[in-house]
Order: sequence, then structure tokens, then C-alpha cells
Amino acid sequence: MTSSDAKRGEMVGAHRVTSPRVINWLIYVLGVMPGLWTFYLGLTDQLGADPVKELEHTLGLWALRFLIVTLTITPLRELTRVNWLRYRRALGLLAFYYAAFHFTTYLVLDQSLDLPAIGADILRRPYITIGMFALTLLIPLALTSNNASIRRLGRNWRKLHRLAYVATLAGAVHFLLAVKSWPPEPLIYAAIVGLLLGYRLLPHTLRRPLVRRLRPQS
Ligand code: HEM
Repeated sequence: MTSSDAKRGEMVGAHRVTSPRVINWLIYVLGVMPGLWTFYLGLTDQLGADPVKELEHTLGLWALRFLIVTLTITPLRELTRVNWLRYRRALGLLAFYYAAFHFTTYLVLDQSLDLPAIGADILRRPYITIGMFALTLLIPLALTSNNASIRRLGRNWRKLHRLAYVATLAGAVHFLLAVKSWPPEPLIYAAIVGLLLGYRLLPHTLRRPLVRRLRPQS
């Protein structure tokens, strides 16, 4: 092997080590952009007639989008050879951050921290109850998304993280109920969530032949 071959090998090795990290950071940086941009538009009075609602809507939508993308990783890996497993944590955490800021917008800007009104809302308005349920489920997932928890919880970690399915379903139902009519958008999101959860319900005996048929032959 010549020294230039060795150098090339080192570079390829280094590239392999650093590039997922770079992609991970890119996911975080790009992922927070829609939220920051909407916040900036709000601060500069460019969010239309009801800026608080607009901010609330945008943050809620991005929370649901990131939950959906997170649930797409497994079928994507099984049905194609695209393996984004190492980016699932970043995507899941982004979903949690958006949901948390969506909730904060509701608490502080929408309800002005009127705790009795917020309590009544959570108890009496089903879409708020379901949204609260979804956010509550995301908290233990975010708290245990680190390597130490994965090691400590072992097999239970996977079981615990199945709560992501329930949280995403609750997020989609919350969206359906929040819009108070039947525009296509929440129905499309609900259909995508239904497909992603339905895929997980397929027995493995069905999933494997499907994987073989759908995977491009090499
Ligand atoms: C995982 C958790 C959650 C997700 C994924 C989520 C998602 C969404 C989505 C997609 C919308 C509709 C946006 C639109 O109209 O375009 C929405 C609206 C809303 N959400 Fe959430 N949400 C979550 C949790 C919560 C929580 C915890 C609360 C408050 C307790 C909340 C309060 C609201 C409110 C007040 C609206 C606006 C409804 C309106 O138009 O009047 N959400 N949410």
C-alpha cells in the first residue's frame, strides 16, 4: 500500500466517523429553523392578524411532523436499505422540543398563565386533554433518550419507547379535533400516522415477504 493509499484510507475512515455527527448536528440546526423563523416573524410583526395562534399552529405542526419522521425510520430501514437509525434520537428530541414550545406558547401567550382556565381547558376540552396526554408521554421518552438510560434500561428501553406510537396517534387525534371542521390537512396527517402504526401491527410473517418484494434487488 502506498502512503497516498493509506492517507485516502484514513480520510475515508475519518469521513465515516465524522459525517454522521455532522448530519446529526445539521438535523438539529435545520430542525429548529422553522420554529426560530416563525418566532422571528412574530417578533417583527409579520405573522398576520393572530400571531399567537400562528405560532401555536406552526409549533404544533412541526411537533407532529417530527414525530411522523421519527416513526418512518424503521419502515424505511426495513423496506429500503436506507438506515437512519442513528438520527432517530435527534428527530425524536426535535419533536419533543416543538411540542414543549407549542405547550409553552399555549400557557404563556394564549392563556397568559391563567392556571384555573388552563386546568379547566385540560379537563373539559377533549383536544386539549389529548394534546396534554401526548406531551406527557413524550417526557419520559425525552428524558431516557441518552446512552446511559439505554444501557441502564436494557430491554425495557425499547418497551418504554413504544409510547412514541401512542403519543403520535394522540398528536394526530389532537390535530383532528383541534381544527373543528374537516379540512384535508389533519386527515392526511392522520392517514400517514395510521399507515405507520398499521405497518407495525403487521405480523413478522407478513412483513418479511413485503420487505423482500419492496427492496431493490442488488
Ligand atoms: C405531542 C403533543 C402535541 C402535538 C403533536 C400537537 C400538535 C398540534 C397540531 C398539529 C395543531 C394544529 C395546528 C394547526 O391548526 O394547523 C395543534 C393545535 C393546538 N394545540 Fe397542540 N399539540 C400537542 C400538544 C398540545 C398541548 C399539550 C396543548 C395544551 C395543553 C396543545 C394545545 C393546542 C392548541 C390550543 C391548539 C390550537 C387550536 C386552535 O386552532 O384553536 N397542544 N396542536
